[in-house]
Amino acid sequence: MSLFWDLMYLFKKTPWDTGLTPPEIVAMLDSGKVPIGRALDLGCGTGTNAITLAQRGFAVTAIDVSRRAIALAKRKARSAELLDRIRFARGDVTLLRRWALGHSIDFAYDIGCFHNLNADARRRYVAALTAVLKPGAFYMLYAFEPQADRAGVALDEIAALFDPAYQLDSMRRGNDDRGRGNDDRGRGSDGSGRGSAWYTLMKRDA
Ligand SMILES: C[S@@+](CC[C@H](N)C(=O)[O-])C[C@H]1O[C@@H](n2cnc3c(N)ncnc32)[C@H](O)[C@@H]1O
Repeated sequence: MSLFWDLMYLFKKTPWDTGLTPPEIVAMLDSGKVPIGRALDLGCGTGTNAITLAQRGFAVTAIDVSRRAIALAKRKARSAELLDRIRFARGDVTLLRRWALGHSIDFAYDIGCFHNLNADARRRYVAALTAVLKPGAFYMLYAFEPQADRAGVALDEIAALFDPAYQLDSMRRGNDDRGRGNDDRGRGSDGSGRGSAWYTLMKRDA
C-alpha cells in the first residue's frame, strides 16, 4: 500500500496536495473550541496542515505511510522553521501504539486518509485513535461518500464505528470538485467530483 502512495507522490498524481489548509480546519481552530496543545494529523501527506497547526502553537505528530510524503513534509517544515514543533513519522495510522502518544492528544484530524482503509483497518484505526485522544478532544474527518463502484464512508458507518465513545458534533456535505476547475480548495481530493463530507466528533468523557 505504501508503494501506491509513494508512486502517487513521485509522479505528482496528488490533486489533494494544494498547499492550503481546508477552511473547515481553520474555522475549528478559530472557534476556540480546541485548546492549543497536542495535535495528531492522520495521513499527513506533505505536511501542509501540520505546519498550519504548528504555526498556531500546537505540538504536532503527523503520520503518513508514504516515505516520500514524509520526506517532502520534513523539507517544508524545515523551510518554515517549524521542524522542532512537528514529529513526522512514517507508518500506519492504524498502529498508533508505535509512537507512545499516551493519552495526550487534544485535537486530531484526517483529511482523506480514513476512506482508503478497509473495514478491519477502520476498526483498528478507531480503537487506536480512541486510545490517544483526551476526553473532550475533537476529531475532524474529511471523507468521500460511498459510490456504486468505490468504497467510501457513510454516516451510518461513522455512527457504528464511533458510537458510543464519541458524540457527533457536526456533519457537513461537500463536493470534491477541484479537479474539475472550481474553487473547492484545500481538501483531501482526488479531483474526481465525488460526494464527500466533513465529520466533527468529540470524544466523550470515559
Ligand atoms: C488523499 S491523501 C491526503 C493527504 C493529506 N491529508 C492532505 O490533505 O494533503 C491520503 C494520505 O493518506 C496516506 N495514507 C493512506 N493510507 C495510510 C495508512 N494506512 N497510514 C498512514 N497513512 C496513510 C497516504 O500516503 C496519503 O498521503
